Amino acid sequence: MSNAKLEQTLVLLKPDALKNSLTGYLLSQLSEFHTGLHFSGTKIVQVSKMLAEQHYAEHFGKVFFPSLLDYIMGCIHYPDEPWKRRVVAIVYQGENAVKKIREIAGPTNPHVARKDKPGCIRALGTIVPIQDAEGKAIGDRIDNLIHASATPEEAEREIKLWFKPDDIPPLMHIYPTAVSDDYY
Ligand code: RTP
Ligand code: MG
Repeated sequence: MSNAKLEQTLVLLKPDALKNSLTGYLLSQLSEFHTGLHFSGTKIVQVSKMLAEQHYAEHFGKVFFPSLLDYIMGCIHYPDEPWKRRVVAIVYQGENAVKKIREIAGPTNPHVARKDKPGCIRALGTIVPIQDAEGKAIGDRIDNLIHASATPEEAEREIKLWFKPDDIPPLMHIYPTAVSDDYY
């Protein structure tokens, strides 16, 4: 394989995808046949608050941030079954991996996805109003089934956050990596 545009990208099948049994559908959309990409890492993760905060650090302080953490931690879709709170984390690898998966995922907002790109994965998502203590609508939670890294730089940060070097076969490593004792 040429190293010219070889990229990795992080995909998360979010708790709403698991709750609605859409995992098989999503994986078939993302198959090597459709994308030309290859799996290089996969795991089931029960998302801690710390991991959720790190993953979505760019949204810290926004009105939807607390509900975004609850969403990715599975608290929204599995309120009474904590053991089911999971995401499927996958590293895909290949030429233009980041752009290819973003295309299949579609626009962040499911309403926009349905209008502009019917058939994309996020066209199956939903939007839920967020209310304050008085019941006033203050924002939206966007349940859009899948995360896909937005840029190669974001992908590298995210893959290093979610995966340890040993989780990816040595011949598929594309970044120099080492386990940091500091983080844990
Ligand atoms: P993702 O990271 O999940 O692949 O989504 P994205 O790049 O398309 O969008 P991003 O801006 O990175 O947002 C991450 C996730 O935060 C939620 N969000 N809610 N209420 C809002 O205005 C809002 N904006 C973003 C969505 O769940 C989005 O996927
Ligand atoms: Mg993003």
